[in-house]
Amino acid sequence: MSTNIVWHDQSLTKAEKREKNGHHSAVFWFTGLSGSGKSTVANAAAKKLHELGAQTYVLDGDNVRHGLNKDLGFSDEDRKENIRRIGEVAKLFVDSGQLVFTAFISPFKEDRAVVRELLGKDEFVEVFVSCPIEECEARDPKGLYKKARKGEIPEFTGISSPYEAPEKPELVLETDRFSVEECVDQLISYMKANKWL
Ligand code: ADX
Repeated sequence: MSTNIVWHDQSLTKAEKREKNGHHSAVFWFTGLSGSGKSTVANAAAKKLHELGAQTYVLDGDNVRHGLNKDLGFSDEDRKENIRRIGEVAKLFVDSGQLVFTAFISPFKEDRAVVRELLGKDEFVEVFVSCPIEECEARDPKGLYKKARKGEIPEFTGISSPYEAPEKPELVLETDRFSVEECVDQLISYMKANKWL
């Protein structure tokens, strides 16, 4: 809709920011059911890497929906727009030289693919936070599954709205089999092995 706008190149390049930080910048896109542990693992990983001297930032579904995306609900269309905006924001963080961890259910393959396309080949890592719905429901940290089962939350992912698991994620973290610390170690090992760190 915008017309008469011109792209301005920045005086500081992404490469210069990466060089100063001493590491690559990229998005680690966590996807999984509500209660699967996305935020928990993303935050623990960001903290550990911060302590190791890296520049990190976590973009979290519940938080972003309090501000930037507070006009969006949980219809398929709104979830698509939610992910589109987060993709753009994540791209800005990558441009600023940071390691970004996003924690959104992001239930639709197509929406995740759009974000992948938005970023460079070496800037997007899909991390499937895998946990059976029975386990997520047993954890029910926010009491939302209970409400959804009673019909109090329409279009709840896994119950009345679909979740499309990734077919070929770069990394799978099984939070029903491994502790948070083990998942963080698996992620950091992956990052080191692929020269992200
Ligand atoms: S997404 O589907 O658009 O990617 P997002 O990650 O931003 O979802 O938000 C999910 C969080 O919103 C859940 O962890 C949960 O706390 C809350 N929530 C509220 N209503 C719903 C719903 N209908 N489906 C899923 N999560 C919901």
